[in-house]
Amino acid sequence: MKILSIETSCDETAMSVVDFNKNGEFSVLSDTVLSQVEIHKNYGGVFPTLAKREHTNNIFPLLLASLKTAKLLEKRKKEIQISKEAKKELEKVFKFDTTNLENVISLYQKYKIPKIDAVAVTYGPGLEIALWIGFNIAKSLSILWNKKFIPTNHMEGHIYASLIKHIVNEKYKIQKIQYPALSVLISGGHTELVLSKKQHHYKILGHTLDDAVGEVYDKSARLLGFNYPGGPEISKLSETFRNKKRKVENEIKLPRPMLKSGDFNFSFSGLKTAVLYKVKEQEKISKLFKEKISAEFENAVSEVLISKTQKAIEKFKAKTLIIGGGVSANKKLRSDFAFLAENEEIDVFIPDVKYTGDNGLMIAVAGFYNTQKTDFEKTQKIKKVNGNLKIK
Ligand code: KG4
Ligand code: ZN
Repeated sequence: MKILSIETSCDETAMSVVDFNKNGEFSVLSDTVLSQVEIHKNYGGVFPTLAKREHTNNIFPLLLASLKTAKLLEKRKKEIQISKEAKKELEKVFKFDTTNLENVISLYQKYKIPKIDAVAVTYGPGLEIALWIGFNIAKSLSILWNKKFIPTNHMEGHIYASLIKHIVNEKYKIQKIQYPALSVLISGGHTELVLSKKQHHYKILGHTLDDAVGEVYDKSARLLGFNYPGGPEISKLSETFRNKKRKVENEIKLPRPMLKSGDFNFSFSGLKTAVLYKVKEQEKISKLFKEKISAEFENAVSEVLISKTQKAIEKFKAKTLIIGGGVSANKKLRSDFAFLAENEEIDVFIPDVKYTGDNGLMIAVAGFYNTQKTDFEKTQKIKKVNGNLKIK
C-alpha cells in the first residue's frame, strides 16, 4: 500500500511517500520537512498567521517535489479538463484557499493520477488555521484521484515515530510492542501521558494544565536571551555544565511543579516564572549563570516527568515505555527515561533524533495502521480538524 502523507499542524510543512507491505515493513520513497523556524525565530514562538501563509505557499511545490522524488509524477500526453461537478466538490473543500484550488486542478489536468493507494493527513491536534492547509489539499487529492482518505492524529504519529526501526537501505519496519504501553509525549504544544491497553487504544492519563514542556523550554530560553526555539540551547548549556571537568556547585534551585499532586497532570508555567525571578535577581547574566540555571531547569523538568511516568508504569503495570515528540531529542531526558525503563525492567522506545520533531513519515505510518482499524470507515467522515486522541 502506497501512502502520500501530509503534516501541517504547526511550523513544519512535511510530506512523505511510503510503500508498505502487509507486514508493515516499508520503503520511504520520499520524505521532506520544510521548517519555518527562521520565520518564527523573532516572535518567541510560532506566529499562527505566518505559519498559515508559509504552509499555503509551500505545500504545492512540496507536493510536486515529493511525487517527483518518489517517481510518481508523470505528465499526461494531452491535458484534460476537470468536470464541473468535480470542480464544485473542490470549491467546497477549499472555500478561501483559491491558490491551492487552482494548483490542484492544474495538477490533475497536466499529470496522470499517481500510483498510490491513499492520502493520509494530520487532522489534529495542532494550530487549526495551519491544519486546514494540509487537510484541504489531502482531501481534494483523495477526491480527484479517487484514493482512500486517512485523517490521522498527530500524537498517534509521534507514538509510531518512536517505533520506526531501520532495516537496510531505504527499508524500515515498525517494531512490535507489548501491552500495556505507556507513551510520554513531549513537544512544543503537548505534554501527555497516554496509556494503551492494546493497539489503537489510547487513554490520556494526564496532560499539562498550562504550558507544554517544549513551550516552557522555549519561553525560559527567551528569558536567557535565545531565539525560538530555545529548547536545544538550554539543552546544550546544561550539558556543558554537567560535563565540566572540575565539578562546580549549583546553588540555583527551581521548583518541581505538581511533583506531589497525586495525579498524572503537569504544570510547567511556574517553572518559567521562577526562571524569570532568578534572571531578575542577577546584575549581569554571566555564561556560568546561564549554564547553572539551564542545568537546574533540566533537573526540574526531568524529575517531574520521570516521577509521574514511574508512578504510571507501576500503577498500570506497563510493559513498554514510548517517548515521543520534539523534546524527546533532549539528551538528559533520553538518558533519564532509558535509566527509568532499565530500573523498572520494561522495554523502552525512544525515537531516532531525526523523527523526534514533526515529520510526514510518522503520519504515513500511523495512517497505515489506521486503515487496519475495524472502524476505519468511520474516520473517513472526519470533517473537523483539531481533534484529540480518541479515548475509548
Ligand atoms: O514536536 P515538535 O517538533 O513540535 C510540536 O509539535 O510542538 O516540538 C518542538 C519543541 C520545541 O519546543 C523545541 O524547543 C523542543 O521541541 N526541542 C527541545 C530539544 N529539541 C527540540 N527541547 C529540549 N531539548 C532539545 N534538545
Ligand atoms: Zn508534534
